[in-house]
Amino acid sequence: MTKVALITGGAKRIGRAISLHLAKNGWDIAIHYNSSKEAISELELELKTLYPSQRFSSFKVDLNAAEMTSELVSNVVDKMGSVDLLINNASLFNSATLKSSSNDLILQHTMVNYIAPFILIRDFANTTKQGLIVNLLDTRVTKNKGDFMAYSLSKKVLTDLTKMAALELAPTIRVNGIAPGAVLPPEDKDDTYLDQIAQKTPMKTPSGLLAILKSLDFILDNQDLTGQVIFCDGGEHLI
Ligand SMILES: NC(=O)c1ccc[n+]([C@@H]2O[C@H](COP(=O)([O-])OP(=O)(O)OC[C@H]3O[C@@H](n4cnc5c(N)ncnc54)[C@H](OP(=O)(O)O)[C@@H]3O)[C@@H](O)[C@H]2O)c1
Repeated sequence: MTKVALITGGAKRIGRAISLHLAKNGWDIAIHYNSSKEAISELELELKTLYPSQRFSSFKVDLNAAEMTSELVSNVVDKMGSVDLLINNASLFNSATLKSSSNDLILQHTMVNYIAPFILIRDFANTTKQGLIVNLLDTRVTKNKGDFMAYSLSKKVLTDLTKMAALELAPTIRVNGIAPGAVLPPEDKDDTYLDQIAQKTPMKTPSGLLAILKSLDFILDNQDLTGQVIFCDGGEHLI
C-alpha cells in the first residue's frame, strides 16, 4: 500500500510545493489547511488529475485550537488508513519586537508554530510504528535578532523539540528539520525583497524552493539521519 504523508499548511507556497513534490514521488497526501479553501480545492483537483491512482484528502484545522489539533492525526488515519510522514510546515510569521508584541501575537505564534507541532509529533509517535517527521524551521534560529520576536522564539523551541523528539523516538521514528532562509517573499512583498536579503548572504542568491525539496529527499533517503537540521539559506546561518 502507498505511504501517506501529512503536510500542515499544505495548500499554498512552500507547503504546496512539498505536496506536489511528494505526490510526484508516489505518496498519498493528507493536506492540512485552515483558511485557504479555494487554494486547497484547486490543489486537490490538480493532484487528482495528475495522479489518478493515488489518494489525496484535505483536512481543515485551526492549529490555534489545541483540541482541534489533537484530532488531526486520528482523523487522517481514519480516512487514509495510516500516516507515515509528518511535515510540520504551517506557521505564523508576524513582525513584532519584544516591546511591541501583543498577548494575542505571542500566544498565537506559540500555539501554531510550536504547540501544534508538539501535539502532532506526540500523536504521530503514538500512532505510527515506523515513520519520519520533518519540521520546517528558519535560519533565524541561529540569531538573536528580535524583529520577529515571537516567531523566532517559536522556531528556536521547535528546533530543540526536533532534537529531543529525535532522541526519544529513535530507532523507529526519525525527526529532522529544514531551516530555510528567505525562499518566498511574504505575500505583500515581491522578489526584490528576496534579492535584497540574498545579497547579504554568503551565496548571494535566494535559495529557492528546490533547495527545500532536495533537502527533503535527502532526509527521506538517509535512514541513519535523525536530529539533524539542514540549513537551506545560502550560508546565512554562518553570519
Ligand atoms: N517563506 C520563506 O521564505 C520561509 C523562510 C524561512 C522559514 N520558512 C518556514 O517554512 C514554512 C513554510 O513557509 P511559508 O512561507 O510557505 O508559510 P506561510 O505561507 O506563511 O504559512 C503556511 C501556512 O500556514 C498555515 N497557518 C497559519 N496559521 C494557521 C492556523 N492558525 N491554523 C492552521 N494553519 C495555519 C496557513 O494555512 P491556510 O492558508 O490554509 O490558512 C498557511 O498557508 C514555515 O514553517 C516557515 O516558518 C519559510
